[in-house]
Amino acid sequence: MNDLIFNLNLKRRYIIPIIIFLVVVLLFWSLNHLITEESPPIIKTQVKYTSTEPINPLPKTLDLDENKVSLGDKLFHDPILSINNTISCASCHALNNGGTDGIPKSVGINGQILKVNSPTVFNTSFNFRQFWDGRADNLRDQIDGPIFAGDEMGNNNWLEVIDRLNQSSEYSSLFQETYPDGITEDNIKDSLSIFETSLYTPNAPFDLYLRGNENALSEEEKQGYSLFKSYGCVTCHQGILLGGNMFQTFGIIKDYFQDRGNVTKADLGRFNVTGNERDRYSFKVPTLRNIILTSPYFHDGSAKTLDEAIKIMAKYQLGIELSQKDTDLILKFLRTLTGDYQGEAL
Ligand code: HEC
Ligand code: HEC
Repeated sequence: MNDLIFNLNLKRRYIIPIIIFLVVVLLFWSLNHLITEESPPIIKTQVKYTSTEPINPLPKTLDLDENKVSLGDKLFHDPILSINNTISCASCHALNNGGTDGIPKSVGINGQILKVNSPTVFNTSFNFRQFWDGRADNLRDQIDGPIFAGDEMGNNNWLEVIDRLNQSSEYSSLFQETYPDGITEDNIKDSLSIFETSLYTPNAPFDLYLRGNENALSEEEKQGYSLFKSYGCVTCHQGILLGGNMFQTFGIIKDYFQDRGNVTKADLGRFNVTGNERDRYSFKVPTLRNIILTSPYFHDGSAKTLDEAIKIMAKYQLGIELSQKDTDLILKFLRTLTGDYQGEAL
């Protein structure tokens, strides 16, 4: 009799945790699903996929207004947007360098060093939010960031920027041709963000593979992709960008910041935006597209090589020490994520 009661108690002891566990799994699954299905801002093209893979190819083409793209291109590369005409968007996001500047922390006006590493501007329109901490909802809203940051472009207000552009007869006529109301904050943001939307990089070998070309990847690259899935990298790096659709804690399994030391305000990540304790050290999972071109890695620019970044991820996000062999295979897979820009390999 006693034994029976004991058994029942034991069972009851397990039932509640099991139910809680199931509810958490269900919640997580449905949340994940919702986030993945959220369509990215600005892109109006609806992309439907039938593949069962957790990663989707980039669309081959996007239909964008050519005049706006070329005006945005000019603005993006012009230091006229900074208060002292020295720094353009491209200073920190060089298109011939994977859309980044290749240094741990970027340099803004008057040689000031920024607090975080520059992310790539390629494919960024597919991000569910912008910035490492997601504080801008879309590309349009993101632009106020660099324009006004004292250590980036240093402007005080939009009138100042519009004044400088108005002094250029070239910009006056280019804007008039594209927008009936000429040079305005809205139109600057519109053309810049449409240009940025044009910075997508389709036709990576991995995309060709996802579209059904089995030969687009070598055996080792396929093994790397299998490991990427089986180790669990794909739980965070997924969707069109292999990233860009959720926030996650950096150091979720093992405390990265304690091991690295010198914690700064920028390291608090999403916590700086929400003030929620659970967002401490949480960041937008970055895209892995064109990743071989965008070293150094992480918001703190601390990993010099992709090899190093993969091992750090395995250790702090998954709690495993990756063998060199598996690291190399995953690296080989990540190399297949480099796409084309304007018809040429990036
Ligand atoms: C001085 C260097 C610098 C300049 C100039 C600069 N950026 Fe950035 N950019 C950065 C850094 C650093 C970040 C990350 C900041 C953060 O997340 O807090 C960033 C983030 C971004 C992002 C978000 C990408 C993502 O994945 O979240 C976009 C888009 C972007 N910049 C576009 C621009 C545009 C457009 C301009 C010009 C108007 C510009 N940047 C000027 C350094 C710069
Ligand atoms: C629990 C979620 C999670 C898992 C699992 C995960 N990552 Fe990450 N990954 C992140 C986050 C968050 C960042 C951004 C960290 C930062 O810089 O603050 C990141 C950054 C990276 C970067 C650097 C990107 C850049 O532009 O700086 C690489 C490369 C990377 N991950 C690869 C991997 C690989 C390979 C695996 C599997 C071995 C993996 N990740 C597993 C969440 C995850």
